[in-house]
Amino acid sequence: MSTPTIRVKELREIIEQHNYNYYSLDAPSISDGEYDILFKELEVLEAEHPELITPDSPTQRVGSEPQTGFGTIQHRLPMLSLGNAMNDDELIAFDERMKKGLGTDIDIVYISEPKIDGLGVELVYEHGTYISGSTRGDGFIGEDITQNLRTIRSLPIKLRGEVIPTLLEVRGEVFIKKDDFATLNKTQEREEKPVFANARNAAAGSLRQLDSRITASRPLSLYCYEAGKIEGVIFETHYKFLLGLKDFGLPVNPLIEKVNGGRKLIAYYQKLESIRSELPYDIDGTVFKINDYEQRDKLGTRSRSPRWAIAGKFKAQQTTTAIRDIIVQVGRTGALTPVAKLAPVLLSGVTVTNATLHNQDEIDRKDIRIGDTVLIERAGDVIPKVVQVILKKRPKDSIPYYIDAHCPACAHKSFKPDGEAVARCINISCPAQVKGRIHHFVSKLAMNIDGLGEKIVNQLVETGLLKTIDDIFVLKQQMLADLEGLGEKSAENLIQAIHESKQTTFARFVYALGIRNVGEHSAKLLEKHYKGSIKKFQQTTVEELETIDEIGPTIAQTVTQFWQDTNNRIMVQNCLNRGVSLAEIKRKMDQPLTGQIFVFTGSLEKFTRQEAKIMVEHLGGKTTDSVSKKTSYVVAGPGGGSKLKKAKELGSSIISENEFLEMLR
Ligand code: IVH
Repeated sequence: MSTPTIRVKELREIIEQHNYNYYSLDAPSISDGEYDILFKELEVLEAEHPELITPDSPTQRVGSEPQTGFGTIQHRLPMLSLGNAMNDDELIAFDERMKKGLGTDIDIVYISEPKIDGLGVELVYEHGTYISGSTRGDGFIGEDITQNLRTIRSLPIKLRGEVIPTLLEVRGEVFIKKDDFATLNKTQEREEKPVFANARNAAAGSLRQLDSRITASRPLSLYCYEAGKIEGVIFETHYKFLLGLKDFGLPVNPLIEKVNGGRKLIAYYQKLESIRSELPYDIDGTVFKINDYEQRDKLGTRSRSPRWAIAGKFKAQQTTTAIRDIIVQVGRTGALTPVAKLAPVLLSGVTVTNATLHNQDEIDRKDIRIGDTVLIERAGDVIPKVVQVILKKRPKDSIPYYIDAHCPACAHKSFKPDGEAVARCINISCPAQVKGRIHHFVSKLAMNIDGLGEKIVNQLVETGLLKTIDDIFVLKQQMLADLEGLGEKSAENLIQAIHESKQTTFARFVYALGIRNVGEHSAKLLEKHYKGSIKKFQQTTVEELETIDEIGPTIAQTVTQFWQDTNNRIMVQNCLNRGVSLAEIKRKMDQPLTGQIFVFTGSLEKFTRQEAKIMVEHLGGKTTDSVSKKTSYVVAGPGGGSKLKKAKELGSSIISENEFLEMLR
């Protein structure tokens, strides 16, 4: 019978081996069900023995509590970008430049790679353990997204193999596969959350989450393709480096090829362009790199991009078709978007019938009219856009197009905030928005009405029982019990939940109203300023709003606009008449480490600096880099130098890593 310590170690190894088989080798060796059982066993053991949890456990990939902001990480070597070749001639010219620069006539060996349309990141491994990860940023300093990257299953937390570099910085692309993207957007739609325009935006949005639990729920993939600083192992060529990455267990794109001479670059470019639509992920071109590191050094870099590499960019896929009509769609938040209805046309394997026209400015700029023949393109985006009008084909009797100043769903006059391009319907009871608004109103951070899920809201709106938000508070048990799939008991529970939700706070209620730009934080600022009085808030002015710290002109404008609308005032009054009662919330209680400042020095064994920082911040404390009179604790590992000396001089409390952990517990 193995001890928990041994079993936990064993489970971690087995799980990471399966991750490697699945993600890096693309050869799963057990079923999803069997994997889940192993994972559960590890979770249970760790819950019973929290002292055995380590940052490198696979269970720690599920994300943790939100951070307050991202720190920064300086890249040891700058993360450069790439020069572009737009056609065959430019690829040949690149090859000629390389030969000239190297003073040779012999065919150069290149590595040809797909250019994945995702986000460039850098991962750092020290002694084979994943230490940190960052975005490209400005090329010199990126955002610290260590925790978010850790949630990607194909990213090994520990490198495999016999010879492990003391330092390995590796660059790669984080992306979302086409299938995963479609599923993600369906989920977003079902949960009435905004859908992403394309897989790249979805990957970017997922990596920038302050709450890594959200990142963990997103289907992110990774391919590694370039070296940063490496110590302890020497690679002579890029190809050997890529083979090395595979041996370390890092995912490398299987379509990467070693080729000889400039002509082969064109062949590779054409091959990838022809299979582009069949690939499981989006690519926007190819990348060609010189294989030999000595040759790379000889050629050197320009300020932003290396001379020894080039991106062969694909052209956006375009075609022409006719605009049959222009309609205006009302978004969930009231945005009025003009959409061109097109004569159906095939574009990169998909039949296109709609193109977004964005807003009136865009229509004016391109002078787009009903009846026009237009050039459209899909450049990564799911929804195609109009590039230009083919004026030669314009019908003689065509007239400029103007979006109606009224909402097509409720005929309410639309409103275009200063400085914004998009007009909006601000009628809170607009039928096109009502489902989305009610869904937001009842959500957890708003009125928190448990049980009023999307399906029921949809049924209630469709059967006419809910026309506006305040109708929620006149729902009767019998009305609910008659709905499909909802019995007497659930109806009773729901009525009870609605009743309980009425005792709420000003901040929750105001956030629930869904006033544009007023999020949870702004609602709390407003609560504080108006001392919880809706009446005062309703009578406010732009000038008064702008005096509130952190409230700017945008919010001031949308708030006053909201209250100018009679429908909105009536709806709010109805909620209050029907029992909604607002109490100001007590401020959050102090956390265990509130007011405590920590400095870390020397080498830490159980966690990284970054992890220590996050742990301290979670508990309300702060960390700084230098010791001062304000420092509460100096956590010292072996090798603490000048900071330790200063701490002793100032008489700060010096504690060990174990004492620090004990304190956290
Ligand atoms: S190498 C010094 N290889 O393209 C070379 N980049 O425009 C640095 N990208 O920021 C990049 N696939 O995010 C390289 N196989 C690949 C790539 C790739 C996609 C992205 C990367 C970079 C951008 C350059």
